[in-house]
Formats: sequence, C-alpha cells, structure tokens
Amino acid sequence: MSATPMTSMTIRAFDPADTDAVLALWLLAFPEYNDASRPHRNPRLSIANKLGTQPELFFVAVDDNDAVVGTAMAGYDGHRGWLYSLAVAPQARRLGIGTRLVRHAENALAAMGCLKLNLQVLSDKPEVIAFYDALGYRADAVVSLGKRLGVQEPEAIA
Ligand SMILES: CC(C)(COP(=O)(O)OP(=O)(O)OC[C@H]1O[C@@H](n2cnc3c(N)ncnc32)[C@H](O)[C@@H]1OP(=O)(O)O)[C@@H](O)C(=O)NCCC(=O)NCCS
Repeated sequence: MSATPMTSMTIRAFDPADTDAVLALWLLAFPEYNDASRPHRNPRLSIANKLGTQPELFFVAVDDNDAVVGTAMAGYDGHRGWLYSLAVAPQARRLGIGTRLVRHAENALAAMGCLKLNLQVLSDKPEVIAFYDALGYRADAVVSLGKRLGVQEPEAIA
C-alpha cells in the first residue's frame, strides 16, 4: 500500500521526443509486446498512429527530470471514450501515478462531452482489475468482440 501520493510528478501530452522512453516503459509493463506469437502488437506503430489521431489525448507522466514514468492513451469517438496503454514504470508503482493518469484522461474526455469511458483488461491480470475496481470501474455485462481489418502495417516506422 502506498503511503502518500507522489507530488513531484506532472502529466503532459506526449511529445515525439518521448518515443524511446515510452517504448522502453511499455516493454517492461506489457510483456505481451515481447510475445513473438503476437506480431501484430507493434508499439512504435501505435505511437505513430496516435500522433495522427487525437494526439492531445496521449498523456505521459514525468518526474522532476522530465523522465517518463507513466503513460495513458485515450480516445473519444463521439459516443464513448476509450483508454489504452495505461502503464507505470515498475519502480514508481503504488504511488498514485496510475490513478492520476486515469483521472487526467477522465477529465479530458469529460471536457469533450464524453459520458462513458470503456477499457479492456486482459483477463489474466487480476491486479489490474483490482486497480480499476478501486477507481470505480465495473465489468459491463458484455462480451468483447474484435476483428482485424487486414490493413497492411508498414514494415518499420522510424
Ligand atoms: C496498473 C498500473 C497502471 C497501476 O499503476 P499504479 O501507479 O501502481 O497505481 P496506483 O498507485 O494509482 O494504485 C491505486 C490503487 O489501485 C490498487 N492497485 C494498484 N496496483 C495494484 C495491484 N498490483 N494489486 C492490487 N491492487 C492494486 C490499490 O488499491 C491502489 O491503492 P494503494 O496503493 O493505496 O493500495 C500498474 O500496475 C502497471 O503499469 N501495470 C502494468 C501495465 C498494465 O497491465 N496496465 C493496464 C493495461 S489495461
């Protein structure tokens, strides 16, 4: 359990100069990015795509030295808001950073008129479900469906 929330941390919009730091954080926070059986997970491409779509909703938490210690990627499609890629550096967890990132995204989406925020958690991550439960998120009575659209991904994005 954390003692006091971290105070020397700010949240700002992602800057392209943060790319390598964010990729390094995501490799630690999302082991699935290292899963060779899931080559469609391309974090560099995710960043590039987000910079073309509501980049103002891609947030990083930074410490006093402007080092990236957390990320949250939000989007609003005019009906629902979504939250992706919430991650906090392992050494900075349980300090309230994840909570502040979620609240920041919630406030940004609410300011756009968004009435409900949805998100998905891998079912084998009960600790993340506990985190969101503590923030008031509840499981909807839905089955999550998805379909890949066959869009060719670039080989590499600089
Ligand atoms: C989930 C994650 C973002 C939480 O970030 P965090 O900064 O550590 O979270 P907070 O400090 O704001 O935690 C707030 C509360 O959530 C709950 N919580 C957080 N982590 C928890 C854990 N591992 N187990 C149980 N409850 C947890 C606690 O109630 C906590 O309050 P407390 O520390 O006073 O007990 C972080 O663990 C992470 O990056 N995980 C790996 C990436 C990931 O799976 N992201 C989710 C993608 S859907």
